[in-house]
Amino acid sequence: MPSNSIDSLLHEERRFPPPEEFTGSAVATGALYERAAEDRLAFWAEQARELHWDTPFTETLDWSNPPFARWFADGTLNVAYNCLDRHVIAGNGDRVAIHWEGEPGDSRTITYAQLTDEVKRAANVLTSLGIEAGDRVAIYMPMIPEATVAMLAVARIGAVHSVIFGGFSADSLRDRIDDAGAKLVITADGGWRKGAVLPLKPTVDSALAKSAKNTVTNVLVVKRGENEIEWTDTRDVWWHDTVHGASAEHEAQPFEAEQPLFILYTSGTTGKPKGILHTSGGYLTQASFTHRNVFDLKPETDVFWCTADVGWVTGHSYVVYGPLANGATQVMYEGVPDSPAPGRWWKIIEKYGVTILYAAPTAIRTFMKLGREIPQASDLSSLRLLGSVGEPINPEAWIWYRDIIGAGKTPIVDTWWQTETGAIMISALPGVTTLKPGSAQTPIPGISIDVLGEDGTRVDPPNGGLLVVSEPWPSMLRGIWGDPERFKETYWSKFAALEGSKYFAGDGAHVDTDGDIWLLGRVDDVMNISGHRLSTTEIESALVSHPIVAEAAVVGAADETTGQAVVAFVILRSKQAGKQTADEASTLLRTHVGQQIGAIAKPRQIFVVNELPKTRSGKIMRRLLQDVAEGRAIGDTTTLADTSVMQIISDKMKA
Ligand code: PRX
Repeated sequence: MPSNSIDSLLHEERRFPPPEEFTGSAVATGALYERAAEDRLAFWAEQARELHWDTPFTETLDWSNPPFARWFADGTLNVAYNCLDRHVIAGNGDRVAIHWEGEPGDSRTITYAQLTDEVKRAANVLTSLGIEAGDRVAIYMPMIPEATVAMLAVARIGAVHSVIFGGFSADSLRDRIDDAGAKLVITADGGWRKGAVLPLKPTVDSALAKSAKNTVTNVLVVKRGENEIEWTDTRDVWWHDTVHGASAEHEAQPFEAEQPLFILYTSGTTGKPKGILHTSGGYLTQASFTHRNVFDLKPETDVFWCTADVGWVTGHSYVVYGPLANGATQVMYEGVPDSPAPGRWWKIIEKYGVTILYAAPTAIRTFMKLGREIPQASDLSSLRLLGSVGEPINPEAWIWYRDIIGAGKTPIVDTWWQTETGAIMISALPGVTTLKPGSAQTPIPGISIDVLGEDGTRVDPPNGGLLVVSEPWPSMLRGIWGDPERFKETYWSKFAALEGSKYFAGDGAHVDTDGDIWLLGRVDDVMNISGHRLSTTEIESALVSHPIVAEAAVVGAADETTGQAVVAFVILRSKQAGKQTADEASTLLRTHVGQQIGAIAKPRQIFVVNELPKTRSGKIMRRLLQDVAEGRAIGDTTTLADTSVMQIISDKMKA
């Protein structure tokens, strides 16, 4: 992170106390911290009671078998009822749930009553297709309201959704469908992206054709892109033929608080993505609590917009479950920020009077580069709060976001969390916290975070170390689908020698003398590209699966806009010598990675080299490659088996 290096971070001295509009009227007050400090479990139990429970829970946390937590375990609830029916019953059926904007400019307004009816219809269809509680349903959709409807319909009948981001390839989709043993896939013919229809159903067809397990019995297809698709009569079902005509009578059944709600695949340090498992009561408690308090949500007047895709965890917690559990009105947008022109986001904010915007630093840095004239052409005066998520936000981008988008007055909440944590863990609270640009600041009430040295001792501020969560939290992952050992090993073994179980997040962090936390990026082989996680090993496997490649090494190199970018070093097989130029090989391999994983994983650069730097035991020293990729002086090479390798590689880069 060039402008987020620890030096530049710690010279950041600007402070922003809560503005007057927030003090006294904000949802969150300092009393939350006091209550949580006094009795953490009682605090979470009180937050959980904001939900509708069919059977009230009597036990808050069962941590008798760490790291397998059970929250509110003897209570029962229906997640979809909490997001829908209860708002209608409370008299808010006419409130807009979703202002949806399609990329080509079409739009739909959906009230809570309408959304509830649509979910009930879809739930009836799922049942008629044989889906029962506990079954897995894969969702591969564009950002259209039916994506939300599909997720809630699955939740309503106690089934488990696995949403796969629409940019993933057929192979990635197949792996995820097979790993979860999904019975049904919900998709669309295609969706609009960058001014064209991105086909989805054809990708589902190829994924299923390659499936080793053949667990899928039906594919439910929403018509959106109007693109030509193939049809398998015995398997494929149109959404409009079934859902639109189905009964809107559907009584939500209660499920146990620990009923699995969703699996979401994320990259780890090995080639195989992990299916992160979340359950119902604890997840919904923390998603809704954080959505209310971190974003200061006033459901009667606010228009919330989280720009994330439902294919990522941010879309799960802050497009679907958090906002809907809180009865919020939100904007949902199908396309990219620059279609048909770079000002699209700002036009949407003006059109719907968005009051709270939650976006990623990569987007902010991209807008910064394009210039302030573009946002300034729209009326952004409705905005009163801004959020940031997914990667560290450098102070420069933070200040630009506040000054240009937030008219120099809106608080910014920089929220740190992960797919695994389910909901926000570290963030300022508007109305309470004095903001420091670049720091995510403090754990939210009820969350215990520590920064430890390698030996497990707490670092002495100001100092850096490894971020851990030191007490269980309601929306914590409950495991990795089908792999309890990997769950223990990945997250809980690093500090196993310490008393109490410590969740190791994989992030480095610095604590300043005020106790505020500054996130410093991943400490493992996971890269963060535009706020999306990718593993170096996964991309290396994709590269070596191509017949021309003998060996590959991938690093995440600092990138001004996307935080990090994928840079690959490959050795071609000797029989390839002279068959193509380095440029041709690089183009071929970028396309190949796109086909294997998805466009987001395509390396920014691929360098064809003759050797890779390895230790005597054969381990590739990525740190040195990272030095080259970032244009730095090469670090210590004394442990290399052949110390001249780096000189050759770096000469090659300069050539
Ligand atoms: O490295 C941290 C970074 O994103 C990782 C989690 O990625 P993912 O599971 O895809 O979830 C992203 C959206 C919640 C973390 O391990 N990260 C996330 N938020 C921040 C962040 N890094 C710095 N500051 C943040 N606010």
